[in-house]
Amino acid sequence: MRVVVIGTGHVGLVTCGTLAALGHEVVGTDADQEKISRLQSGILPFHEPDLDALVEEQAKDGRLGFTDDASEAIPNADVVFICVSTPPRSTGEANLVAVEQAVRLVGHQASGRTVVVEKSTVPAGTAQRIRHVLLQEGNGVRKELEVVSNPEFLREGSAVRDSLEPDRILVGAERDWAFGVMRELYAPLIANGARLIETDINTAELAKHASNAFLALKISYANALARICERAEADVVAVAEVMGADPRIGPDFLRAGLGYGGSCFPKDLQAFQHLAASLHYDFPLLREIGRINDEAIEATLEKVRAGLWNLEHKRVVLLGLAFKPGTDDVRFSPPLALAARLLDGGATVVGHDPQAMANAKEECPGLLASTDPYEAAEGAHCLVVCTEWPEFRSLDLRRLRDVMAQPFIVDARNLFEPEEILAAGFSYQPTGRPGSP
Ligand code: UGA
Repeated sequence: MRVVVIGTGHVGLVTCGTLAALGHEVVGTDADQEKISRLQSGILPFHEPDLDALVEEQAKDGRLGFTDDASEAIPNADVVFICVSTPPRSTGEANLVAVEQAVRLVGHQASGRTVVVEKSTVPAGTAQRIRHVLLQEGNGVRKELEVVSNPEFLREGSAVRDSLEPDRILVGAERDWAFGVMRELYAPLIANGARLIETDINTAELAKHASNAFLALKISYANALARICERAEADVVAVAEVMGADPRIGPDFLRAGLGYGGSCFPKDLQAFQHLAASLHYDFPLLREIGRINDEAIEATLEKVRAGLWNLEHKRVVLLGLAFKPGTDDVRFSPPLALAARLLDGGATVVGHDPQAMANAKEECPGLLASTDPYEAAEGAHCLVVCTEWPEFRSLDLRRLRDVMAQPFIVDARNLFEPEEILAAGFSYQPTGRPGSP
């Protein structure tokens, strides 16, 4: 099938690579000309494991190309994916301006039977708006344009695997022919055992927000438990293990820490709250999820303060700046929120991250950055583990201790086991579990 993907951000680019790998002819487009010319030369705009190899291979095999002129590609497309960003407005509502612009272009340029797929996360009811715009832009010309909701469930850091081996493919549509097109599009994945769930469009749109809000709820539950465990001298890691052994609960997303960040959970939670309010449903639980998430930053800050007394004239190292391991993404990154609080308090803050340093510096200019964790730790009074990059586990703890002014670790991701850090001579404050007295 001929596929056009509008928007080459995380979701769009992974969609391009995946659909090309499934054997379709894919053209990725973006309004950002520089991004497109870099993609044409094989340079990806962000770090995502395995994506560069996938894109390179599909481009070499001639199934994937990029253009900054979407109008060139749309008339021939069987399916157009809308993968533009939907950032939050100051009210929390999703800003759908880019979606509307993309849809207008499709309505104007599509020439025949075309499925228009909402891949970007949008509030329930958006498809109706899209349908209206497609009709307006059709200018009375007879076109068969059908809207489909096909939310993605990929995670940054494992996006390629999540897309090629999805646990579910969700398709919300109204007409049989549109369902048929989507089944054909994903046929190899379905044949491989991916579960296809077909619903009406509103349900598909809502299910995406509901899923992300529920995952965020699990994380906030674990973080609230961490606060209680700290007061009760219990161990949140063990509590989560016990809870997770119950298949009704499951072990995932119960890791207490510095809280969730990234371009999805914070934004989607706000947008879901906004949707609930606009439907006149009071959903205070959603507010509470965000509040507990903010509290995770404050709890970590308090541990640093408690260990250092005053923050002024203190050097604090943040190990990890990305919102999660495996990515260079710092959007709504909890480590950067912590950095801002520490800088406000007068500390010198030095960050180290295997991938996200350039983005972090841009986002938080007050932060000093070091490419070497030992150099970052030189003369430091506290080291905070902010992102659980696996490579941090193999750091030479004794070497770190020797270069620090004060051997003090706040482990905001419970990356280490308390015994190993204490044995290396550090004072240690993990999250929701006992550390140094
Ligand atoms: C999330 C969802 O997991 C995907 O299913 C969804 O498709 C995506 O949002 C989206 O809407 O596009 P992502 O934001 O890439 O994916 O990353 P996650 O692995 O979900 O992690 C989100 C945040 O939660 C990270 O900051 C991570 O550190 C934090 N987290 C995760 C915890 O603090 N504890 C946990 O137990 C798990």
